[in-house]
Amino acid sequence: AEDGYDLWLRYRPIPEADAVAYRARVAQLVAPAATPTQQATRDELVRGLGSLLGAAPALGDTANVDGALIVGTPASSKQIAGLKLATKDLGDEGYRIRSVTLDGRNAIAIAANTDAGAMHGAFHFLRLLQTREPLASLDIREAPRTQLRMLNHWDNLTRHVERGYAGESIWDWHKLPDYLSPRYTDYARANASIGINATVLNNVNASAQQLTPMYIEKAAALANVFRPYGIRVFLSARFSAPVEIGGLKTADPLDPKVRAWWKAKADEIYKAIPDFGGFLVKANSEGQPGPQDYGRTHADGANMMADAVKPHGGIVIWRAFVYSHETPDDRAKQAYNEFVPLDGKFRDNVMVQVKNGAIDFQPREPFHPLFGAMPKTPLMMEFQITKEYLGFATHLAYLGPLFEETLRADTYARGKGSTVAKVVDGELHRYRLTGMAGVANIGSDRNWSGSHFDQANWYVFGRLAWNPELSSRDIAQEWTRMTFSNDDDVVQPVVAMMMGSREAVVDYMTPLGLHHLMGRSHHYGPGPWVEGGPRADWTSVYYHRASKDGIGFDRTTRGSDTVSQYARPVAAQFDDAAKTPEEFLLWFHHLPWDYTTKSGRTLWDELVVHYSRGVDKVRDMRRTWDGLQGKVDPERHAQVATFLSIQEKEAQWWRDASIAYFQTFSQRPLPEGLAPPA
Ligand code: GCU
Repeated sequence: AEDGYDLWLRYRPIPEADAVAYRARVAQLVAPAATPTQQATRDELVRGLGSLLGAAPALGDTANVDGALIVGTPASSKQIAGLKLATKDLGDEGYRIRSVTLDGRNAIAIAANTDAGAMHGAFHFLRLLQTREPLASLDIREAPRTQLRMLNHWDNLTRHVERGYAGESIWDWHKLPDYLSPRYTDYARANASIGINATVLNNVNASAQQLTPMYIEKAAALANVFRPYGIRVFLSARFSAPVEIGGLKTADPLDPKVRAWWKAKADEIYKAIPDFGGFLVKANSEGQPGPQDYGRTHADGANMMADAVKPHGGIVIWRAFVYSHETPDDRAKQAYNEFVPLDGKFRDNVMVQVKNGAIDFQPREPFHPLFGAMPKTPLMMEFQITKEYLGFATHLAYLGPLFEETLRADTYARGKGSTVAKVVDGELHRYRLTGMAGVANIGSDRNWSGSHFDQANWYVFGRLAWNPELSSRDIAQEWTRMTFSNDDDVVQPVVAMMMGSREAVVDYMTPLGLHHLMGRSHHYGPGPWVEGGPRADWTSVYYHRASKDGIGFDRTTRGSDTVSQYARPVAAQFDDAAKTPEEFLLWFHHLPWDYTTKSGRTLWDELVVHYSRGVDKVRDMRRTWDGLQGKVDPERHAQVATFLSIQEKEAQWWRDASIAYFQTFSQRPLPEGLAPPA
């Protein structure tokens, strides 16, 4: 059934007319299988090529026919060693795919320094066939730009996934460690195919139980499944675990007993999981325990845990998503204020993980001011793949453009060209540790992500983590070809839909830099009217601050002065409404309803136009998708069509509710030519 279970690894047969040429290029497969990773690599090639080409190529020990595919490392294959393709610059995970001549015969070599690198190369090679690239004269050289490409699961031990819209957790804790669902292997294959090499199994709002012997054993069983695929396991650690499961009276990071407890806990974990990656920690944020409970700093807390894992080569990833809703200052400023003074105070095996924006995974946010502001502390990017604020699983929103927009943003920290991508890949500040995390959108739904198109968000995250400078459009193309069809009549319209989809959501939910307009706890439908009363960090009338005199949050030097957290040229730009890119206008400025926008329309009219445009874009997507009937299998076509109809209905709901609410302040009519809300 076309239920989406196979993700982008569908390997559907190449039509006969094209398959002939591909078969000639892959007539023999020479791939060692002496280690678990080699075995998994060969299995994937046999499975993928067998399905794509109608039959798997003959297996051989040495390439001895025309059209051999030869895979390996200098250590695993004499022929690969002889080709001298595995150069140092490929590192531990990179690879080379090259058309070569072996004893006078044509061959294709996939060469790497390590088994994991060869596996990445094998997946890349399969992708070439899946997307119908020619194999005639290949010369591909790839190495990841970041070291840690990581999923963060917000999965609880109860199997409830916080902000998860794809069913319950895929980790069946109850049946672990003995029963290993085949799904765990498919999960590892999917991740390995896009270069993801690390996973945090449990929610950042962590249960201390996760660190008890019973659950360490279960985590170890998963780590055993993932290891052949080059994926390491990390765990979220609850800061107060020494009290909750350790019987101590305190979790003070400077208390010797506490320090000893974490050391012993780390030793215990590494005994079960020798390649354990380390801990992810959410501390002193949204009510979670942390070092500040004992008058200590984030650095004190992180360093104590870093010392515990250090002898084993582990790291600590400390989250910068900290704020107190009782602080009567702009929440967007809090992380910067707490962390910048700590730059240089963290151990060398600590990373600080920063969300892409300073508030919370909104449909659009300017880049987080911490990027570029902590040259001595390796900062890890945190994107959210699950669409907590972008319509959950039913709304189609391809996040590639969101990720790309943040990564390409210029921090100016070291002058022009200091992009967020260069902070994250370590180039700008010469970070010793680099990485990118994505809050997973994976659950036990048959299609893994709650909708077919949400698979693309998992995919694009992995590809951009591998190389933060890739184009989200190219990635959308690749994904569409593998997931739906190589027919140009499908690829072009689907890619066009995807590329416009996130902007549509911005338009009908949070246009012109507005944010946090969604219902307060569920984050799904519109809720600009603040049910549940005011909160200090929302500065009493929510972030939009709509009133009779205008709308928007004044974060300029005349207001909360949040702009001053950015490097000078950026701060100067955001401080001036005329220079602020219009998509961030109301993020930084409170402006009167009759303010003239770039289109010449008043701010009020422009706002209404954006809301309407959002709905129109969803209608366009529906029309495009309807036109693909018969070109996409009926099962997937029908589900996407239904989800788009839900999205259209709800985009109208967003538009109508938002306009009606803001109109109570603006007291203005709808602009000429726009139909009144239904
Ligand atoms: C958001 C989200 C929470 C989550 C938090 C975090 O606020 O709504 O569910 O715990 O982010 O990233 O820690």
